[in-house]
Amino acid sequence: MDIRDRSGLGKVLDGGFDAVIHFAGRKAVGESVTDPLGYWDTNVAGSLVLLQEMSRTGITTLVFSSSCTVYGNTAEAPFAEDLPTAPINPYGETKLAVEQMLAALAAAQPHWRLASLRYFNPVGAHPSGEIGEDPHGIPDNLMPYITQVAVGRRPQLQVFGNDYDTPDGTGVRDYIHVVDLARGHVAALAYLAEHPGHSIHNLGTGRGYSVLEVIGAFERASGRRIPYAMAPRREGDAAAAWADTRRAQAALGWKAKRDINAMCRDAWNWQRRNPNGFGNEPW
Ligand code: UD1
Repeated sequence: MDIRDRSGLGKVLDGGFDAVIHFAGRKAVGESVTDPLGYWDTNVAGSLVLLQEMSRTGITTLVFSSSCTVYGNTAEAPFAEDLPTAPINPYGETKLAVEQMLAALAAAQPHWRLASLRYFNPVGAHPSGEIGEDPHGIPDNLMPYITQVAVGRRPQLQVFGNDYDTPDGTGVRDYIHVVDLARGHVAALAYLAEHPGHSIHNLGTGRGYSVLEVIGAFERASGRRIPYAMAPRREGDAAAAWADTRRAQAALGWKAKRDINAMCRDAWNWQRRNPNGFGNEPW
């Protein structure tokens, strides 16, 4: 169902829950620039409906999927949670708006238990190969693009920019395995059981990899060659972003365990077993 459907969501929550993990949102930066109202509607208005329905049903514990995109381009990596926020596109603005809504709610009603988790770059798949990433249309993100090249659905990858001020000139990101990310949510729920209020935690590994390093790691993990071509920079991309992980480690007792090889191996295992994804393409 759609979280903007107040009566439908209300019926679900009437079933009785201890907590909500809120993943429902749109996340394509470029699309948010062309459809800002759609992003504010789903991400912000949708979260508002959810919080109002949680309030009505007496559920006051929430873990929210925020993003490292709220840091914007002004600071240098690593990014710590107390940096000033400076999102540079409507997607990031909607993530920050929800964080602000949560902070204001916790200030007004201190019994709420709210955590904003700022994801870095989630990649990989469940090691079973049963759950993976199946974007509609052309993938916006690096890892699903690579896996679709590897499986023969796309001829080659474009590397967006090789003139950044990074060791090999390509963009550096903090990729985190989705299973570690999931464990981070469990750790956040445990934290909230002890800590009312609103808190913010980075979920990343604290280590950055360049686009070329990811391609190399994927080729080793899959045994497939990934043809690529250098292309101009993508608008709005930062040179380098990775997390300061100290707060998450200290507060949540959580640390990412899976390395880039596991991320590539599991992403490939899923794509190899599901070459056409889940078969849910509407076109
Ligand atoms: C973006 C958003 C992030 C969001 C994430 C979700 C920003 C700054 N980042 O992350 O907030 O949560 O998407 O999906 O708003 N690249 C290529 N070729 C490709 C695709 C990507 O070279 O075909 C490069 C990019 O230039 C970048 C790196 O790969 O250096 C990672 O890109 P991507 O996977 O799209 O993630 P981000 O842009 O970091």
